[in-house]
Amino acid sequence: MSMSNTWWRGAAIYQVYLRSFADGNGDGVGDLAGLRSRLPYLKDLGADAIWLNPWYPSPMADGGYDVADYRGIEPVFGTLAEAEKLIAEAHELDLKIIIDVVPNHSSTASAWFQEALADPAARDRFWFRDEPNDWQSIFGGPAWTQVPDGQWYLHLFAPEQPDFNWDNPEVHQEFEDVLRFWFDRGVDGVRVDSAALLYKSDTAWQDLDPVHDVYRHWRRVADSYDDRVLIGELWLPDQESLARYLRPDELHTAFNFDFLSCPWDPHELRRVIDLTLTTHATVGAPPTWVLSNHDVTRPVTRYGRADTGFAHGGALHGTPSDPELGYRRARAAALLAMALPGGLYVYQGEELGLPEVEDLPDELRQDPMYARSGGTNPGRDGCRVPLPWSGDEPPFGFGGPSPWLPQPENWRKLTAEAQLADLDSMLNLYRTGLRLRRSLLGDGTLHWLPSGDDRVLAFTRESGVTCVANLGPEPVPLPDGEVLLASGRLEDRLLPPDTTAWLRTT
Ligand code: NOJ
Repeated sequence: MSMSNTWWRGAAIYQVYLRSFADGNGDGVGDLAGLRSRLPYLKDLGADAIWLNPWYPSPMADGGYDVADYRGIEPVFGTLAEAEKLIAEAHELDLKIIIDVVPNHSSTASAWFQEALADPAARDRFWFRDEPNDWQSIFGGPAWTQVPDGQWYLHLFAPEQPDFNWDNPEVHQEFEDVLRFWFDRGVDGVRVDSAALLYKSDTAWQDLDPVHDVYRHWRRVADSYDDRVLIGELWLPDQESLARYLRPDELHTAFNFDFLSCPWDPHELRRVIDLTLTTHATVGAPPTWVLSNHDVTRPVTRYGRADTGFAHGGALHGTPSDPELGYRRARAAALLAMALPGGLYVYQGEELGLPEVEDLPDELRQDPMYARSGGTNPGRDGCRVPLPWSGDEPPFGFGGPSPWLPQPENWRKLTAEAQLADLDSMLNLYRTGLRLRRSLLGDGTLHWLPSGDDRVLAFTRESGVTCVANLGPEPVPLPDGEVLLASGRLEDRLLPPDTTAWLRTT
């Protein structure tokens, strides 16, 4: 894969949820020092780029998605000077850095919101009204909160996250300036949080037309630098609406949440893959393949349940999950995702096969979804538990004696250290897969191969590599060719159920 000015088209992007990645100063919260010390791990894993969740000063009402200052670094994570060092060190290793920008909402602790609270004449940058409407917050409860003088402000998420008013030109100016601030510091890309929500009308709060103009302006800013990428976080009802954000003068790519949410079902997967490829082709944008992130149930747990799809709202939380089945399918899904044309996202811990931690004590849950839903939604803490790096007991080399969320005792077999020593581990599957992917797969197209069984997904890439995933109940014979990698043990060239193999066929 070429790492020229279209590096992002086929990149493998590793998502670092900084709070839970590695703790350099021992206070229990992951930080920049921890990440800097683990850059060689990410290089060896085969990542091309790192996306970091918000690293800005924040009261952490929503894990940093409540941004108090878009031009600084949260002191718990480090300093701006350290962030600059991180960027330089990553670049030395040929790793790109992508940061998170949150344009839909701010923090009640931001200077602008504090000004608005103090002075009713300074409220136009937010959504203040004399009367609320009936909108509910995405985290539960009303989307409006009253301030002492009687007015109400809109927050599609937590009350600590007031929504910006994008009809105000100052908001536009501010964000274009913030983009330049970080591009000037060498950041290679920006993940745009809640990218479809910026504009609201009296009756709708997402996917309104003027938002596209915002991204046209942002694209011009990005294009005035070399090789920078804008990535949309867009949960939309269909791929056509998604593709409209990926027109050549708007965002470069977006997360493929249809693929992430898709059940482990051959027909559904094939449908989503085909739809993704055809709609992205209409705008010339590379598709992306995402199995997990910091907002969703870990794949190992999801794929072991009777219902293997992802549902918002924690509807499936605690339903029985067969760990062996889930693990086998997560391995097969990883090789399937890695073989598809376009970009790939890997969320920290996915490469270790971490399960969702479903039994966190309720009093330790920090995700506002939990409290806002009155406890009916467990929230997203279960996929945010600090990583196990080494050793036999918590904190498993995370750093410091007590990580901000407790790690399960039985993660000793899942540490990076233990898995590096085991050739058959999930970590080694990801390492080998990402290495092969870099030379043989990446951006491009695919050709489906006819197969006698519609529960087998088989396609060839232009490099001559064929990927076969068996989602049926019986072993199936593999096509001719040298087996390069398989997610499970093969017997006599038979591909077992819930297993994916890569072969060189030409
Ligand atoms: C999407 C982020 O991924 C999620 O973690 C956050 O809670 C919401 N946007 C609000 O910023």
